Amino acid sequence: MRYADLHQTSLQDPESFWMEQAQAIDWIKPPSKALFDAQAPLYEWFVDGEVNMCWNALDRHVEVGRGDQVAVIHDSPITGTKAHITYTEMRDRVARLAGALQARGVEKGDRVIIYMPMIPEALMAMLACARLGAIHSVVFGGFAANELAVRIDDAQPKCVIAASCGIEPGRVIGYKPLLDGAIESARHKPEFCVIFQREQQVAPLTPGRDLDWNAFQDGVAPADCVPVAGNHPVYILYTSGTTGQPKGVIRPTGGYLVALQWTMKNIYNVDPGDVFWTASDVGWVVGHSYICYGPLITGNTTIVFEGKPVGTPDAGTFWRVISEHRVKSFFTAPTAFRAVRREDPKGEFVRQYDLSCLKTVYLAGERADPDTIIWAQDQLNVPVVDHWWQTETGWPIAANPVGCEMLPVKLGSPAVAMPGYDVQVLDEGGKPVGPDTLGAIAIKLPLPPGTLPNLWNAEARYRKSYLAQFPGYYATGDAGYMDADGYVYIMARTDDVINVAGHRLSTGGMEEVLASHPDVAECAVIGVADSLKGQLPLGFLCLNKGTERDHAEIVGECVKLVRDKIGPVAAFKLAVVVDRLPKTRSGKILRGTMVSIADGKEFKMPATIDDPAILDEITEALRGLGYPQG
Ligand code: COA
Ligand code: AMP
Repeated sequence: MRYADLHQTSLQDPESFWMEQAQAIDWIKPPSKALFDAQAPLYEWFVDGEVNMCWNALDRHVEVGRGDQVAVIHDSPITGTKAHITYTEMRDRVARLAGALQARGVEKGDRVIIYMPMIPEALMAMLACARLGAIHSVVFGGFAANELAVRIDDAQPKCVIAASCGIEPGRVIGYKPLLDGAIESARHKPEFCVIFQREQQVAPLTPGRDLDWNAFQDGVAPADCVPVAGNHPVYILYTSGTTGQPKGVIRPTGGYLVALQWTMKNIYNVDPGDVFWTASDVGWVVGHSYICYGPLITGNTTIVFEGKPVGTPDAGTFWRVISEHRVKSFFTAPTAFRAVRREDPKGEFVRQYDLSCLKTVYLAGERADPDTIIWAQDQLNVPVVDHWWQTETGWPIAANPVGCEMLPVKLGSPAVAMPGYDVQVLDEGGKPVGPDTLGAIAIKLPLPPGTLPNLWNAEARYRKSYLAQFPGYYATGDAGYMDADGYVYIMARTDDVINVAGHRLSTGGMEEVLASHPDVAECAVIGVADSLKGQLPLGFLCLNKGTERDHAEIVGECVKLVRDKIGPVAAFKLAVVVDRLPKTRSGKILRGTMVSIADGKEFKMPATIDDPAILDEITEALRGLGYPQG
């Protein structure tokens, strides 16, 4: 079916469309219908089906004779190691790990936090939870202990599975001390922790609480797959909102299976046996959907890459991995390509490798600037497809459905709405605007299968954050426009979320941390344009009256505070002390105006500004930091 018909059918007759897609999944008990709308505007899919995620990701491939195929390749330039794990081996190792967790009392519905770097054991931990119907929540390694503690308190896990350490270029990150700190400060205490010891840093175990990954699996019986209802959460993934309290996005098993399976062929154009590589991290939604679950339920070989686009050891690493493992579809973030391009603008590394296996490249996580896309297309000679989605949706909202029908590429646009997504651009009053007109991007309810049905323990917040602004719609938090051909253009966020190197961060969360500094009376954090990372956070600090300490010292302490409280991934390194912040007469900080000044963009003096002279002070302060750049 061509794209236009497919999309139309999915909206006009979602029931038949999704029931048909559901046939690609192994159900223990098939669902009687697709959409359950009795609680609208809360919707669920495939509720009365019974299914198991791990069965679909591993066991079923072994059953049909794919057991000897490699399921997971671990390619770790940072440790200089490689490993290949077949489907049979994965299934057996996951079943044993699940058996050990089960023996310790982990059951369907229990939460398990996973805090691991890019090693196959991270996928095994996720899949072992899914095998038992336990709900995992993976926490990205670049977050500080405090962020881990916040997630422990919200998810209330029975156990935490962690590695002893992660490895960043030039340094080993001890995960165990971060975990210990998090558990100490969290109100909720997990019953036990399972620690996977890496040789780069073996961690001392806390007696009575910590178990060694290998030892605790000794002699246990492997666990079978536990049937769960179609709407049972396979995971909770925390993501940044407007405050320091992250949102726990719930991912329902049945809909996720159906939607991911559809995307693998229709968007990523891969079949069972093909090698699919997403260079991201399991801590992000991209890693959940397209390092772990999507490729495995399709019977692909997936690559767990522990390295960076540059520096491990050079800007040719991506091409080496693609060529060596015969990758057919490759997915990464634009920032990764910008990093490679900066070191190898002419693509000299590209030409050192046979990349004939590579058919398509996919970019997401942040706006893909046309320059980067053109550079990648020129170097790689394959289509470079931008696509747009969010932690909340779990799979692309807009993309070019390459495996179904390759539509013309329009630079600057992640192309068109995927099945089940009725994407509309709304004005402030919630009325759809015409083509090429800027507005808030919203999706008419219901969202398709696999997307979030709710937030963990926070239904009121779910309704307020996503459903209240435009009744009958899900508010994406992104602003932009659609052209007459239905191509979407994502221009900015409408909230306090910024995107740093493809990582979603909350400026509100950073402001909360800065405000806790004893000398800071008031502060604002904005995202300024950065040629490598897309955006960088920049803080303005107003100090308490009478503070006579050295400003540079206070700035240094504030930078350290954000690193310690949120983590290095916040990349918060720019801050400046100012006397006052520009505000409206009603006291609202004019962050947007400050962003325009920092980015050197023209702006209209806000009519409601309290004191326009403050903007001169802000301009001066930004100049001191080197903004606007260039
Ligand atoms: N564990 C611990 N620390 C981590 C970490 C992890 N898993 N990931 C990143 N960090 C640290 C980095 O070491 C860095 O520390 P530093 O301030 O001491 O240098 C800091 O967090 C910021 O990281 P990052 O913003 O990623 O910058 P970088 O210079 O390390 O790398 C890129 C830049 C572009 C190479 C990298 O950001 C990248 O590959 N981005 C792609 C992102 C992505 O895949 N996003 C998912 C959506 S598809
Ligand atoms: P995350 O939940 O971390 O995946 O971040 C989702 C947000 O990243 C979206 O709401 C967008 O703001 C941004 N984003 C993701 N993909 C794209 C894209 N292809 N183009 C523009 N912005 C994107």
